[in-house]
Amino acid sequence: MKSNSSNQIPMGKSHESIYQRAVGVITGGVSRNTIFRRPHPYYVASANGSFITDIDGIRRLDFANNMASLIHGHSHPAIVNAVIKQLKKGSAFTMATEAEVNFAELLTARSPGFEKIRFVNSGTEAVMTMIKISRAYTGKPKIAKAEGAYHGTYDFAEISQTANPDNWGDIDKPNAVPVVQGTPEGIKDDVVIYPFNDIERTIHLLDQNADQIACVLLDPVPHRIGLFPATNEFVEAIYNWTRRNNAILAFDEVVTYRVNYSGMQDSYSVKPDLTALAKIIGGGFAIGAIAGKSEIMQVLDPRETFLRHPHSGTFSANPVSTTAGRIAMELFDEQAVLKLNALAMMAREQIEESIKIADVPVSITGVGSMFRLHFQENVPSTYREAYQNKETKAVINELIDYLFFKENIIMINTMACMFATTLTRNDVDRLSEALLRGLKNNETKKLIV
Ligand SMILES: Cc1ncc(COP(=O)(O)O)c(C=O)c1O
Repeated sequence: MKSNSSNQIPMGKSHESIYQRAVGVITGGVSRNTIFRRPHPYYVASANGSFITDIDGIRRLDFANNMASLIHGHSHPAIVNAVIKQLKKGSAFTMATEAEVNFAELLTARSPGFEKIRFVNSGTEAVMTMIKISRAYTGKPKIAKAEGAYHGTYDFAEISQTANPDNWGDIDKPNAVPVVQGTPEGIKDDVVIYPFNDIERTIHLLDQNADQIACVLLDPVPHRIGLFPATNEFVEAIYNWTRRNNAILAFDEVVTYRVNYSGMQDSYSVKPDLTALAKIIGGGFAIGAIAGKSEIMQVLDPRETFLRHPHSGTFSANPVSTTAGRIAMELFDEQAVLKLNALAMMAREQIEESIKIADVPVSITGVGSMFRLHFQENVPSTYREAYQNKETKAVINELIDYLFFKENIIMINTMACMFATTLTRNDVDRLSEALLRGLKNNETKKLIV
């Protein structure tokens, strides 16, 4: 039973006491499992640039950047000033604002394939809407997605995100494994799971469902699979398949848009029909977007007599997110993209050196301003190869905790770093030296070897 009695709720501002209050009112004490830690999460007092200060005054160097969403670190002055200016004029209206148009012009000019765009509020919503647009346009029900890929929490998009050796089945026909208990059978039936970067098996699986597939969903550098890029041959093979079978090639660039000035899609000889965006394009605020071919996006057009996909959202294209996003993306120009990628590459090289000195079987994957460490000697190239068993997860958790508590460094709990432009060479030195100490740590080493 809930109690408000002050003698039952410690009021001191410690992490423990706040968490005690949290569990009384928030399920598990957190609204996003990502930030949960045992025995409790740590609470932020403030953040600036690449540093987050918690309520004990401990200042940590941040390589997670709110799960890859803060391309300019925390509270960037240009973004803060623009947002304050906008907030004074209002934050959301049942009317349009020019802020939305300005940002749409910027993004459509940035990526040649973005003929039209629509804004939503998250990556989940962007992927969901992209799938629904694909169904509305093609008149077909199914989607295909890669085993292990994370695309947010829309029922269809999350199938097989957490597939494991006990349930993933034969690689020739991977099982459609639900993430959430109670997922209807019908959802599974409408999702074709393909093995990432495996052309032969993927095309075979797509062929078996050719007249049913509305879109092939593809994250070109899927973090949860292992943060290695889709090969050009793989993307081309899927693209060609979609041309032959009246299906849409739907890229999830929620994370990967940062890789090139025009997104990861710029790295391929063929382009997606539709792209889902989110994270960095919000400049630190909640946002999502779907961009792509005018003819396909037309299904959303309210001027049509037969509107195939009615689409709204209370906070979609609100002027706070679109203003923050526009400033962030203006600052993340071609030079900034290249500079950031070079810094991340330097970090990778230094960490490879740390791995060598520590003499541990660890490998690194990644592209552009993001990379991930794997606790295996050979660089993995498939979801099943990169899959972490319980023992490996324990090693990773130990190292993540070591970095957090002893080195005051924050990494994503898959052992990934998502760089921000506020990071410096000194920060990179600090990371590689901390990792060297962490990897040399006896307990960690014992568990790895
Ligand atoms: C590749 C990818 N797609 C979609 C999403 C969902 O985005 P959001 O958390 O904004 O709903 C994420 C989130 O991490 C993601 O990494």
